[in-house]
Amino acid sequence: MWFFNEMCMSKARLDGKTVVITGASSGIGKETARDLYTRGARVILACRNMEKTNEAVEDIKSNPPSWMKKDKYKNNVGELAIYFLDLRSFKSVKDCAKNLLTNEAAIHILINNAGMAAASPYEKTEDGIETTLQVNHLGHFLLTLLLLPKMQSSSPSCRIINVSSIAYIFADIDFDDINLERSYALFKSYARSKLANILFTKELVDRLRKANIHGINVYCVHPGIIPTEVLWNVNNAVLPNFCFTLGRLFFKNVEQGAQTTIYCSVDEKTANESGLYYSQIIVSTPKNCGMYPVVFCIWN
Ligand SMILES: NC(=O)c1ccc[n+]([C@@H]2O[C@H](COP(=O)([O-])OP(=O)(O)OC[C@H]3O[C@@H](n4cnc5c(N)ncnc54)[C@H](OP(=O)(O)O)[C@@H]3O)[C@@H](O)[C@H]2O)c1
Repeated sequence: MWFFNEMCMSKARLDGKTVVITGASSGIGKETARDLYTRGARVILACRNMEKTNEAVEDIKSNPPSWMKKDKYKNNVGELAIYFLDLRSFKSVKDCAKNLLTNEAAIHILINNAGMAAASPYEKTEDGIETTLQVNHLGHFLLTLLLLPKMQSSSPSCRIINVSSIAYIFADIDFDDINLERSYALFKSYARSKLANILFTKELVDRLRKANIHGINVYCVHPGIIPTEVLWNVNNAVLPNFCFTLGRLFFKNVEQGAQTTIYCSVDEKTANESGLYYSQIIVSTPKNCGMYPVVFCIWN
């Protein structure tokens, strides 16, 4: 896409740093992993599909990001490791966190990136929660809390990045129907899970401050519009085809889509910021426009 192609210009290295990225088997997560690996980090891909994630690891090892020349790649890169994580299951989240806490000496950056928009009409997890809410928000919420002590002992300069979406502006959270049993719609569940990512960011920063825990900054990101599986699923539920065709003008490629996450993970300019929402590599003010009822009526 030709308008919004800002790149993270920081040359910061991450030698000696450990990064955990959820959902790094494809899309934005994979491109983020590629960039941070190139900067020297030990990058942990926390994913559920081992075959796909192994392929992602091979791809990352063979192909540098666009800013790195291929003949220079392999000098000063970091390490790649895979941990199993299925965010649909609290047990899997706890097992993954336990393995990370046992095996990793430190965790400096946690990127809660994995996301989905449930393709099936309505689905609950084994924990009895509406699937999109559990994968996009509650699973990450639990993972973050379980890893916090390790991050605290790895601080200062630790960062948590929650990958949200501009879809939050349409969200409405009904706490009397938290499982959406009375009013499920794919886009509704996706949008509210992304609003939950933002609210979690704000609340976590507040609680860290009140608990006098310093050295862990928390960021929330809208990556842009990128043609990945998540986008196809959301699109199929919401947009008429002609809108999507027009929308292609505004798409980023996946590397561009990873830039705001990378910016919040490494850039010196964000080192003293916490609790903010970023879009196109700049701080933005989240505003819920309360438009969900209108969108819902038109497209559902
Ligand atoms: N693409 C966009 O336009 C856009 C816009 C705004 C926000 N976002 C957000 O960006 C993030 C990354 O999405 P993407 O665009 O890169 O889509 P993607 O290519 O579909 O990647 C999503 C990743 O999440 C993983 N995932 C899904 N369910 C999971 C589960 N139960 N447990 C563990 N991992 C799971 C997927 O793994 P599998 O391969 O195993 O399914 C995949 O690695 C998401 O949070 C999304 O909401 C995307």
